[in-house]
Amino acid sequence: MKLFRTKPIETDLAKDTGLKKVLGAFDLVLLGIGAIIGAGIFVLTGIAAANHAGPAVVLSFVVAGMAVTFAALSYAELAASIGGAGSAYGYGYAGLGEFVAWVIGWMLILEYSVAISAVSAGWAGYVDNVLAAMEIHLPEVLTKTPSQGGWINLPAMLIILALGTLLATGAKVSAQFNAIMVFVKVATILLFIGVAFFHVDINHWTPFMPFGWEGVMTGAASIFFAYIGFDAVSTAAEETRNPQKDLPIGILGSLAICTLLYMLVAALLTGIVPYPSLDVPSPVSDALLQVGEKWASGMIAIGAIAGLTTVMLVLYFGLTRILFAISRDGLLPPFFSHINEKTGSPARVILLAGVAMATIAGFAPLNDIVELTNIGTLGAFVVVCAGVAVLRYTKPDLHRPFRTPFSPIVPILGIAFCVYLMTNLGAETWTRFSLWLTAGLIIYFTYSYRHSKLAAPEKSEPAHAPLE
Ligand code: ALA
Repeated sequence: MKLFRTKPIETDLAKDTGLKKVLGAFDLVLLGIGAIIGAGIFVLTGIAAANHAGPAVVLSFVVAGMAVTFAALSYAELAASIGGAGSAYGYGYAGLGEFVAWVIGWMLILEYSVAISAVSAGWAGYVDNVLAAMEIHLPEVLTKTPSQGGWINLPAMLIILALGTLLATGAKVSAQFNAIMVFVKVATILLFIGVAFFHVDINHWTPFMPFGWEGVMTGAASIFFAYIGFDAVSTAAEETRNPQKDLPIGILGSLAICTLLYMLVAALLTGIVPYPSLDVPSPVSDALLQVGEKWASGMIAIGAIAGLTTVMLVLYFGLTRILFAISRDGLLPPFFSHINEKTGSPARVILLAGVAMATIAGFAPLNDIVELTNIGTLGAFVVVCAGVAVLRYTKPDLHRPFRTPFSPIVPILGIAFCVYLMTNLGAETWTRFSLWLTAGLIIYFTYSYRHSKLAAPEKSEPAHAPLE
């Protein structure tokens, strides 16, 4: 039963972990918006409208938004009461035991690293478009992966390495850079809303549901990607000054703002052009071109680059914090939790993760593995929702600064929605996901199980001792 040993909770929020506590509620909201608004709205909305949902893609956003809201309410409760840089991994460790925690951590590593590599490819594509508009043409062998007929996607690799360097300089500098880029991308979205509003032709909204409810649901499973990222806010728990109050504000605040913006964009996008014309890699700027707003279209392309940059930055931040937390518990080698004294950031793991993801981005056929991000995320959401319900039962007296309303109904709805969306993912994704989990099990039983700090508390420092 050692597989289900749990980590005591009480001291996690108060302890000094070596990471600098520099972030406030506003930083966290910006961090959330930074991670959320990206390829989902700038790319997938058009594809989902054209192929799955039609103008009813706005309803797809409502359905996916509901699944995400249930999960976010659960995240908010656990982030405020348990905290920790490991996010869902840490909540799993406290509530459901080490083995489940490891599996969740392993899924989160998959979610974040694949998402970052995939978004870097989208980023490189947009940069290529903007440069081409300025008559600057990069050689194709350097901008395409071997599966696309090139040698290497160099811009995608370089952006990941550049963001890694930025993150290594510390959380505050990264948060400031993120804040500027978030303002650019939110301004871009508002610009779209402002311009598109005057071009709406309500005839484009009929038929509203050309593919029926089935289309709306398939659309929801695909644009679920647009909401991924709010969970990264919870990985900043140990760098937040007042985590119990600020984490729920950061998680729920960023999600509410993004949901509102998404619905407006989806409704306007399908209102200004016929939905079948949205099946392109850059539907938001293309739609404005179609209605003759050339300058606004160019601005959108630049805003999309900013948007995709922040998504990568915040997810990258989250990835390194999760690796850090897992290593601190002994389940991964100590290399991953080493803190650089000068910057207060886990610089080594940032650079190692950067090199690994840049390699994937440079050479791998990314389109094929993007769905892995959704499956990893949904799996983690299921466990977080389950964690709320289980902990209410096993630890009724735990101090809960934020409580998920109507528990256990909301967590159960969260589980049901997420499992439903998981069943909508393809067989290949499930196969790849199984292979990834098998690799995780091998690492757990050959290394983590024996090196866990809970396995030998008398030999190493206690699992909860501050790292000094
Ligand atoms: N939600 C993020 C995006 O849409 C991952 O790019």
